[in-house]
Amino acid sequence: MTKALFINGSPRRNANTAQLLQRAMAGARDAGAECEMVELYDRSLNYKGCMSCFACKVKGGRKGVCSFPDDLRPILERAVEADVLVCGTPVYCSYPTANLRAFMERLIFPAVNYSDFTHPVVNKPKRSATIVTMNCPDEEQYRNIRYDILMDTSGGSLGMFGPTETLYSFDTLQFNDYNRYDAAMLPADRKAERHRTQFPLDLDAAYALGRRLAENS
Ligand SMILES: Cc1cc2nc3c(=O)[nH]c(=O)nc-3n(C[C@H](O)[C@H](O)[C@H](O)COP(=O)(O)O)c2cc1C
Repeated sequence: MTKALFINGSPRRNANTAQLLQRAMAGARDAGAECEMVELYDRSLNYKGCMSCFACKVKGGRKGVCSFPDDLRPILERAVEADVLVCGTPVYCSYPTANLRAFMERLIFPAVNYSDFTHPVVNKPKRSATIVTMNCPDEEQYRNIRYDILMDTSGGSLGMFGPTETLYSFDTLQFNDYNRYDAAMLPADRKAERHRTQFPLDLDAAYALGRRLAENS
């Protein structure tokens, strides 16, 4: 059975990124995949980024998966073994969130083959995607601010495991009640309208993404 793993890199469990991941998971499940969601900001999950132990590079050692003993290790095992991997992250100060970055270091570095950079260590090829949510209003500004480099480099590195793609959700609803916050640059009415008209389309796109990834793997 196709195994699909969904990684929520947002601290919010039911906000934009999480909702899009849940729809992608519904799509994969409807395509027959066995699905799991991981909350990287779960307070009981203690881990850091790569600790530079180099266990993944030791001659004769286990390759392709991080063996540093902490709470992320079993999740990384499942990520490496998954047929489908979908990571979700908000843009935080122009980058993926810190917890997703730490996860990516631990996923990607063991796949980097120091003996042959052109052939990564891929224990199981997989289809993957990154779901990115943000205040940034559209794709043109995304490119102008250079998020195409700052953000997409992270998602693009999943390409070492197989075909990868990105789904963007722009101008998301950050607060339920904008009147409570100093946020004059984020007009409440525009945000509400966008959430009403565009976000449902993004949810549909996430569902189609999850379904497509699972069907094609
Ligand atoms: C710490 C922090 C930094 C942020 N930095 C950016 C940013 O650089 N660019 C941007 O477009 N949005 C930025 N945002 C807005 C979030 O990316 C946006 O609200 C996102 O959809 C939140 O995802 P969530 O609803 O899943 O938590 C930031 C939000 C926070 C909390």
